[in-house]
Amino acid sequence: MILVVKSGGEAALPEWQACFAEVAPQLSLRWWDDPALDPASVDYALVWDPEPGRLARLPRLRAIFGSGAGVDGIAADPHLPRGIPLVRCVPPEATQRMGEFVAWAVLSLTKDARRMAIAQARGAWDYFEPPFAAAARTVGIMGLGAMGLRSATMLRALGIPVVGWSRTRKALDGVECFAGAAGLPGFLARCDVLVCLLPATDETRGIIAAPLLASLPRGAGLVQVGRGVQQVLPDIVAALDSGQLSGAVLDVFDPEPLPADSPAWAHPRITVTPHVGSLPSRLERARYVADCITRFERGETLPNLYDPERGY
Ligand code: NAP
Ligand code: GLV
Repeated sequence: MILVVKSGGEAALPEWQACFAEVAPQLSLRWWDDPALDPASVDYALVWDPEPGRLARLPRLRAIFGSGAGVDGIAADPHLPRGIPLVRCVPPEATQRMGEFVAWAVLSLTKDARRMAIAQARGAWDYFEPPFAAAARTVGIMGLGAMGLRSATMLRALGIPVVGWSRTRKALDGVECFAGAAGLPGFLARCDVLVCLLPATDETRGIIAAPLLASLPRGAGLVQVGRGVQQVLPDIVAALDSGQLSGAVLDVFDPEPLPADSPAWAHPRITVTPHVGSLPSRLERARYVADCITRFERGETLPNLYDPERGY
């Protein structure tokens, strides 16, 4: 069985091969642009942002695995083969890592870690009295899927109050849940820190803009770990400069890498992270994909399937 890979660049192929040799020795791994590869021999693909039209040229392809949880860069292909499962990459380590990142980002906002980092860079003893404990702030999570649910649970374990918002209403112990457009204003009014863990879809593009930011309590924090297309960066900068937002941790941008002249780099209230919210190791992802392939070969239902009707 042949698995073609486009993730991490061609230099990553030997590591992918070593990982799959450990967890699925029956799979033969080939690089996406291997000129010697016969397209008709490929059974499975593991990809990040494949060039549009390329997957459609693999006539025997049986399933597509995204190498990330968000598969917007694959689903955007107008020639994406229909009727073939597209599986999001959500091993348990991915949600754990995201929960850790969200907890770190929320704590760094509520402890004002950016202020301390700036003072340290200047060699300044910038003593200040933190106005509140993190557990006195409510965190609102937009998107209560695999990533959002795990992040909510981990924040709750730290004693931090959590509210959540999703398309369809969820029931989660200790978390007040809101849903849909009608639930959005009530949700936003509760968010001392807003965490975005939404997928990139037509509905979520540009959602983090001036109207949404104005609906948050004054001085709220923002953690953006969804996708860059969801935010209007000038609106975030304006909200920070006016005091409507007190700080932001931004992990995703449009485009990426963030251009050198972006105002986000040097802004005193923005922490920029290079799209590292949750990146499971290659072995963790290989184990997940191998397990999915085993299940698929047995005719079992695959987990974390992309749904073209919903768009995520
Ligand atoms: P998921 O399991 O598909 O969950 C998506 C959540 O968003 C669901 O709760 C869904 O509502 C909600 N949602 C979707 N459209 C909505 C809308 N229009 N209004 C309200 N809620 C909406 O996805 P996931 O695995 O948690 O991942 C979420 C996203 O995180 C990914 O798509 C990716 O963009 C991002 N991500 C980023 C990183 C990083 O390193 N920065 C890593 C992993 C993932 P329902 O529950 O009602 O369906
Ligand atoms: C990373 O952004 C992912 O979608 O896993």
